[in-house]
Amino acid sequence: MPEIKDLYAIEPEGSIWTVPQAYDVRFNWDYDDGRQTMMHLYRKGVQMQWDAETRIDWSQELDEENPEQLPEGMLPISGMAAYESMSAKEKAKVRRHFQAWQISQFMQGEQGALICAAKIVTQVPDVDSKFYASTQVIDEARHVESYKRLLEKFGVAYPMTPPLKELIDQVLRDNRWDMTYLGMQVVIEGLALAAFQQIRDNAQNPLAAAVNAYVMQDESRHVAFGRLALRDFYPQLTQKERDEREEFLLEACYLMRDRFDAVEVWKTLGLDPAECAAHMYDSGFMQMFRSSLFTRIVPIVKDVGLWGDTIRKGYEQMGILEFANADVQALQEADESIARDHDARRAYVESVINRAQQLEPAE
Ligand SMILES: [Fe+2]
Ligand SMILES: [Fe+2]
Repeated sequence: MPEIKDLYAIEPEGSIWTVPQAYDVRFNWDYDDGRQTMMHLYRKGVQMQWDAETRIDWSQELDEENPEQLPEGMLPISGMAAYESMSAKEKAKVRRHFQAWQISQFMQGEQGALICAAKIVTQVPDVDSKFYASTQVIDEARHVESYKRLLEKFGVAYPMTPPLKELIDQVLRDNRWDMTYLGMQVVIEGLALAAFQQIRDNAQNPLAAAVNAYVMQDESRHVAFGRLALRDFYPQLTQKERDEREEFLLEACYLMRDRFDAVEVWKTLGLDPAECAAHMYDSGFMQMFRSSLFTRIVPIVKDVGLWGDTIRKGYEQMGILEFANADVQALQEADESIARDHDARRAYVESVINRAQQLEPAE
């Protein structure tokens, strides 16, 4: 199996990315029992650990023509003249590259989550939060591993896309501990959940669907963690301090809405990047993605108490205010039960294979 570094369609800038840090590491000598809800989440995080090596059947392969077996409408340039006039072989290449670009962003973003979770362990003052975040560290390592193994099967990879890098850079450089939560647990996890969900719910390829379902099962706990920590903290801040957070959230929402245009892929394939990005912006794929994205983010923003004039006016202008009423609890329950369905399906398939083997006539 080739290594990821040999699969990059575009070379990343150097093999190591360095982000300078200036923040206080905090010890806490109280060791109190912690908040009940936080400790409950920690216990759940410990009990729901899994091993990507055994839970996922890596012998499954991707499809030659359409790796994740997605409907054609999920390719953001489907319907564009330059794409429609291609041969079947060229179209297959476009699908492979776009899908690999997405999975690459998942893998690279998961490394960002791994680093942010580790930062939370060291920086956050409460011991119960340190405990929970430590379970998230191993979750995120497993997510990097899972997407890496999936990506290897595509035979092509992409570096972290500049808008995602910009967002992670901004979050990491901020030395206020809550900004790591707000940037990673609310904004980037929300972005990730929306993107994972598109594949989990639309891929006919069982491997691609299962990887996303299992990762999402963990992510729903991570979002809950951000909510718990921030809901306690934000009421203690001044309005001015909350306004600063609201401005950050607005900017991040614009960036996610407008800047994830995959231009690296279009350039690599020799297509006109501006034409593709314009087609993508209005595509059904992006409409679905935005609605899923804001369903994951806006209710959390309201729930943690960042719901002042700044954000409400901004969200109203963006036309996304009504997403505040989405049922996050129901989404989280679905994220957990869909993962269990994948376990059940695999167990069923294996039982059929076992029975069939027992029935084979002896030679
Ligand atoms: Fe993750
Ligand atoms: Fe996560």
